[in-house]
This record gives sequence, C-alpha cells and structure tokens, in this order.
Amino acid sequence: MKVVFIGAGNMAEAVVSGIVANGVVPNGNVCVTDISEERLNHFQKSYAVETSIDNAAAVANADVVVLSVKPQIFPAVWPDIEGALKPDALVVSIMAGIPSSKITGGKAIRVVRVMPNTPSLVGEGASGIAPGELATDADLKIAEKILAAVGTTVIVKEEEIDAVTALSGSGPAYVFYLLESMIEAAGQMELDAGISRELALATVIGAAKLMQETGEEAGELRNKVTSKGGTTAAAIETMQERGVKESIVAAMWAAQARSRELANG
Ligand SMILES: NC(=O)c1ccc[n+]([C@@H]2O[C@H](COP(=O)([O-])OP(=O)(O)OC[C@H]3O[C@@H](n4cnc5c(N)ncnc54)[C@H](OP(=O)(O)O)[C@@H]3O)[C@@H](O)[C@H]2O)c1
Repeated sequence: MKVVFIGAGNMAEAVVSGIVANGVVPNGNVCVTDISEERLNHFQKSYAVETSIDNAAAVANADVVVLSVKPQIFPAVWPDIEGALKPDALVVSIMAGIPSSKITGGKAIRVVRVMPNTPSLVGEGASGIAPGELATDADLKIAEKILAAVGTTVIVKEEEIDAVTALSGSGPAYVFYLLESMIEAAGQMELDAGISRELALATVIGAAKLMQETGEEAGELRNKVTSKGGTTAAAIETMQERGVKESIVAAMWAAQARSRELANG
C-alpha cells in the first residue's frame, strides 16, 4: 500500500512518524508533499520517507492519499490531485470542516473523513473516523490502521463529526484551560510553579487513567472523592454555584455550531 500525504505539517508528521515507527506502512511506501523544501528535507532525514513538491506526480501511483493541508488551501490543491488520482485510490481527509461531498463534488471518489486531535503528536491522540458516501468497510479499516498509530480511534457517522470536533478535536484546549486555572490558583496560594505544574499534570493524567481502568462513570468517581463537608465538597459547591458545568456544556454546543458553520462554507 502506497500512502501519500499532501501537506507535510504538524499533523502529517505525527501520523507519518507513528505509522513508520509502528511498521503500519514501511517508510519506502510513504511519500509526503509540501511547498517547503525545508519541511521535505526534515521528513527525509527523520523518517526516511519519499518526498515531492509535485502533488499530482506524487498521487499518480498512490493507493491512499491523505489530505493534510489546511482547509483553506484545499480548493487550490484539489483540482491537480483529483485529476491525477488512480481510479481506485482512497482519499483520507484530516482537514477540519470540509465535508466529504465537497471533496468528491459528486464524483465516484471514495473518501474517509478523520477528525484527529493534537495529542496525536505524542501518540495519545483521539480520532473520529467517518465514511463518506462511497467509502467501504475496508476503507474504514485502512483509515483506522493509519490513525491507530497515533492513538485511539472510533468510527462515527459523518453527521457526527461536528460533535466529535466539539468533544475531542477542541477538547485538549478545555483540559489545558483547566490546567491553566489550577496552576494559576496554586500560584496565588504561593506554591512553587514547577511543583504546581507537576502536581496538576499528574492529577489530570491520574484521574483519566483511574476512570479508564475502573470503567466507572465520571460522576461516580467524583462522588467518591467528595465527602460531605470536606475540601472537595467546598470546591465542587463553588463550581456548581458558578455554573461551571453549564459553561462547559454551552462551550461544546458553540464549538459544534461553529464546526457546522465552517463546513457550510
Ligand atoms: N492541529 C489540530 O489539532 C488538528 C485537528 C484536527 C484536524 N486538523 C487538520 O489537519 C490539517 C493539517 O493541520 P496542521 O496543524 O498539520 O497544519 P500545518 O502544520 O499548517 O500543515 C499544513 C502543511 O501543508 C503545507 N502546504 C501548503 N500549501 C501546500 C500545497 N499547495 N501543497 C502541499 N502542501 C502545502 C504547509 O506549508 P506552509 O506552512 O509552508 O504553508 C504545511 O506544511 C488541517 O486541515 C487541520 O484542519 C488539525
């Protein structure tokens, strides 16, 4: 299987490094394209993959074409690529906000859409994978295999991609916001900045692992650490009074709505 990445950016690098390191696709079967020679040199040196500055030439013998350019670049690069695709090539798009129907333009092109997130850069990503109209189960398996090299994957319907964007796509920023707030408060309490960072990070990672490994619901685990009249109760009551949960729910609805707006152009 020959896999060509269009756009040698951060996301492409995360996925290429994952698939090469895990042997999902041998480096000789991976090609990346970009307009920057510097990026291409970096990919050659770091991952020993093929590189090209010519998108059309690169996709001409590709079995899988991964669209990893910024969404605003898509209209400029797609006509050349589309004209050079092999008839049976699979297109995997990681571009946010571009529906598969905009990629195919009604033509018989098999597209799988993926919404990854930035923890993919450290192999701890979460990707929602959705079939376009003509994508087969085998196509979904190929996309899953590629994205599983950088983290967790789930299959969803394309109409659910905007909710996935609101949850795991934008989600790392919500967790960073929480970490930022916790570290800021610890600073106000005059705790050393390095210690605050270490404890805050270990707390978020530890809480996530506890939930994952016990299989318990978030609410149950929260109740378990919230004894009546205790310190955690004082904190949670303050959050409830100030509508923290309602704010997070409203934030996710706003993210989903924005994702829909972007998809509709
Ligand atoms: N980062 C995320 O959390 C995230 C999450 C979900 C989805 N995505 C999607 O992933 C995609 C890539 O994001 P990214 O953060 O990796 O972006 P990025 O770092 O900007 O990568 C895009 C790369 O494409 C290159 N490029 C520009 N024009 C090109 C052309 N004509 N032919 C080939 N390559 C070209 C860019 O070069 P220049 O820099 O020189 O322009 C850049 O190296 C985006 O569509 C984004 O929506 C990202």
